[in-house]
Amino acid sequence: MTKVLVVGSINMDLVVGTTRFPRLGETLFGERFATHPGGKGANQAVAAARLGAQVTMIGRVGDDAFGQQMTATLKTEGVDTRWIGVSATAATGIAAITVCDGDNAILVVPGANGELSPEHIAASEQAFAETDIVLAQLEVPLATVEAAAALAQKHGKPFILNPAPAARLPIELVGKVALFTPNEYELAVALDGKPENWKALLAMLPGKVVMTKGREGAYFTDASGALQHQTSFPVEAVDSTGAGDTFNGAIAAFWDLGLAAASRYACAAGALSVTRAGAQGGMPTRAEVETFLDNAA
Ligand code: RIB
Ligand code: NA
Repeated sequence: MTKVLVVGSINMDLVVGTTRFPRLGETLFGERFATHPGGKGANQAVAAARLGAQVTMIGRVGDDAFGQQMTATLKTEGVDTRWIGVSATAATGIAAITVCDGDNAILVVPGANGELSPEHIAASEQAFAETDIVLAQLEVPLATVEAAAALAQKHGKPFILNPAPAARLPIELVGKVALFTPNEYELAVALDGKPENWKALLAMLPGKVVMTKGREGAYFTDASGALQHQTSFPVEAVDSTGAGDTFNGAIAAFWDLGLAAASRYACAAGALSVTRAGAQGGMPTRAEVETFLDNAA
């Protein structure tokens, strides 16, 4: 069982379903409302755990009901929550999400996630020593992600970075990453290029990037720099929130298989995840992914 350490955000998702997105200044009736556990870090932790990885999470919540609920959810999923701290000053992060026809628009208020600091990373060094790989995103401060990358490097553990939401990355951080998992837009922002030049951007880091491209699936380069494509699997989309997180959790959980096989599993897991409501709602187990792939073949 691969041991995965996730460093990242924990949000409560406040989700409104609607038949169309509201226009600026407009008041519209939504169709339904639900709260779902979310946050890119927590989502990726849950995705990897469902796929059979042994997952530990470093994060921060507020001293409130959402924080308690989120930590309890992670525990139920089998995630080790020992390194999740509770802030005395900030509330648990939230995401205000509007879902329409399987698409979404998201506003994140980081709250306690914004307090996760390099000191918290240093204090959890034991978790870095004990893991096989480290997985992070950009919903916690960049300095914290940099500290995690440095500590992973110190312990000789591969560092996977999902550069989401999009941000330009310092060159020193790029040098420490074993694998980037951006979408087309995030890749361009991270490497300060143009989205239409994604093939050239992929070629800059051979074997170190797997780029998701929505319904087209994923693209990556092998160690020789040759472009490879993993097609996606057609499903009926109910809620695409967390599809990228499911992809990332799967890449980590299947890391041992190599990038090509891991990408196939990850595209399948991502596809299954959009068939149910909520970021974590449709995240499949390992057995579900295997059955799905058998039937797709
Ligand atoms: O990637 C999806 C996640 O982004 C949601 O769960 C929301 O919390 C935001 O962080
Ligand atoms: Na879902």
